[in-house]
Amino acid sequence: MKKYLVIGNPIDHSLSPKLQNYWIKLNKIEAIYGKLQAHDQDLKELCNNIKNGQLDGLNVTVPFKKKIIPFLDVLSGHALRTQSVNTVCLNNGNLTGYNTDIDGFELSIKNLNYDVVNKKIVILGAGGVVPSIIYALKRMNASQIYLSNRTKEKAEILKNIFEEIEVFEWGKLPECDMIINATSLGLKKNDKFEINFSKIGKDKFFFDVIYNPFNTEFAEAGNKPGNIFENGLHMFLFQAQKAFSIWHNIEPKIDQEVIKFLKGKNS
Ligand code: ATR
Repeated sequence: MKKYLVIGNPIDHSLSPKLQNYWIKLNKIEAIYGKLQAHDQDLKELCNNIKNGQLDGLNVTVPFKKKIIPFLDVLSGHALRTQSVNTVCLNNGNLTGYNTDIDGFELSIKNLNYDVVNKKIVILGAGGVVPSIIYALKRMNASQIYLSNRTKEKAEILKNIFEEIEVFEWGKLPECDMIINATSLGLKKNDKFEINFSKIGKDKFFFDVIYNPFNTEFAEAGNKPGNIFENGLHMFLFQAQKAFSIWHNIEPKIDQEVIKFLKGKNS
């Protein structure tokens, strides 16, 4: 029986176990997928557990996507470029870190037939998933990327990696076509932005990386008439699909059934 884990802190909100176990069952694979609220000091042991066969793979989420890197032998090109890892397993004996968030974000945008070419895009937040989003937007030829983070230093660090992005003050909002919430605001019930989204104008694309809960303050602003709103559910599904393919060499199906299953109360 193969064993997989998603590690993060917090981890309660993660739907990864529900999704991965659904696909494992559907594809008749002898495996189990669990979750672990981890701490920095656990990373080394978790990686050793993969090397000695006690564990077969990891999904890595906030705040460990960068912190896991020193414990890995090899990074995929995407993981190396973004310094962000969300999937880990052995590959030819080497503990390898992959980044499937880039494809996850890109596929979720393409799934909506939205074209970012010549679009001005605002990203709010500078956490673990943001390098992947910037990388994907650049790959899709977005014309301008503006970024703001409550802690400005973290935004400046990203600018050192991706020189062409423009950093702006937290609380302000430049004119744009698309706005992406990549902060964790919305995960907790009473989370409030210090940003007035009504000033942004009409016919905008609001993309919320958060997928659980589904009804955030950002979602409310994005669901105003004329706007497009997408939460992180499809991004989550596509990144998970890629991780599943890396581990099991099978591309699992994304259809209405799996979405209904994920949104349902059953587990
Ligand atoms: P990490 O930063 O550890 O990778 P993350 O969940 O990926 O974790 O990122 C959290 C993001 O949400 C950060 O951009 C964070 O801003 P800071 O860098 O200033 O912490 C942002 N965030 C979290 N709580 C916030 C709040 N109350 N107001 C504004 N931004 C917030």
